[in-house]
Amino acid sequence: MWIYRFEDDFSMASLRRVRRPDPEPGPHDVVLRMRAAALNFRDLAIMRGEYHVKVGLPLVPLSDGAGEVLQVGSKVTRLRIGDLACPVYLPNWIDGPLRPQHGARRLGGPNDGVLSELMCLPEDEVVPMPGFLDPVEAATLPVAGVTAWHSLFELDRLRPDDAVLVQGSGGVSTIAIQLAAAAGARVIAVTRGRHADRLRELGAGEVLSRFDDVQADVALNVAGGETLTPMIAATRLGGRVHVVGYAADRIAELDIFTAIQHAVTIRVATGGSRADFEALATTIERQGIRPVVDRVFPLDDLADAVEHLERGGHLGKVVVAW
Ligand SMILES: NC(=O)c1ccc[n+]([C@@H]2O[C@H](COP(=O)([O-])OP(=O)(O)OC[C@H]3O[C@@H](n4cnc5c(N)ncnc54)[C@H](OP(=O)(O)O)[C@@H]3O)[C@@H](O)[C@H]2O)c1
Repeated sequence: MWIYRFEDDFSMASLRRVRRPDPEPGPHDVVLRMRAAALNFRDLAIMRGEYHVKVGLPLVPLSDGAGEVLQVGSKVTRLRIGDLACPVYLPNWIDGPLRPQHGARRLGGPNDGVLSELMCLPEDEVVPMPGFLDPVEAATLPVAGVTAWHSLFELDRLRPDDAVLVQGSGGVSTIAIQLAAAAGARVIAVTRGRHADRLRELGAGEVLSRFDDVQADVALNVAGGETLTPMIAATRLGGRVHVVGYAADRIAELDIFTAIQHAVTIRVATGGSRADFEALATTIERQGIRPVVDRVFPLDDLADAVEHLERGGHLGKVVVAW
């Protein structure tokens, strides 16, 4: 089997294809033939040496992947040969609230990620995907989808008729819009970009370019920087604000007067558990949700895929497939 790994540094020039013996699964293991991997903002941060967790070399990159179950150990019960499945991004976090040990392993840095021909994993660290998804669509879910789910339905308890303000049109935001709309929420999207029509098709009732005059019950902030305070101001008294990302800047400006005026609760997610992923998969299946894929690159064009994500302006996820 082949793997790709960063050898000397985290640049694309240092990414090497390396041969490894094929894995031999133990009784509780499954072997996935990987087919696709989605890129995340965190991959860019790792490549720039700006990730918030220390990451060492060598490293197999990318956190999000999907593949078919090729082999199962004799004691495996949760998966069958031929299932489409995804490795869990935070493999130590099975369910329940976040504990320190849950974040100790993260696929794609600091632990080896999914850019491999085959992956041998304990069945506990793999989630089967709805049958109607293809590997490209499934690969979009482990980080962005699970984080959106965890924020809106685990840290929060989104209710039908809640007004949900979602910022942006990237990976987290598009699946958040789809999930919130499927839950019966009234979705307001705010974007600087050119995808207003598609955001409406995904379930946003309103698409705006500014936060002015919005009164949301729940807000999902993916950019940080100077966008947090206006988003709090667009949240009703006693509303809930989820701080998920830092696409604009990792330092977010928080005007405490505005926060007090709106008496918001601010929650911060780091991914989600396997139980979140399973609940997400069930909802996707029941609601027939197809995650949004901006563009699929062949594996040989991984560097172009990275550049495409870095440039911004995409709608949904950027994926490589093989
Ligand atoms: N906490 C966690 O566990 C977790 C999990 C996943 C992701 N994240 C973080 O969440 C953020 C979003 O992730 P993603 O995968 O959705 O990234 P993404 O696909 O790159 O999307 C980011 C979106 O942010 C918006 N944006 C970018 N720069 C902005 C700016 N200066 N002002 C306002 N909006 C801006 C853009 O939307 P428009 O062009 O439509 O405005 C863009 O679509 C990243 O920082 C990522 O690291 C955190």
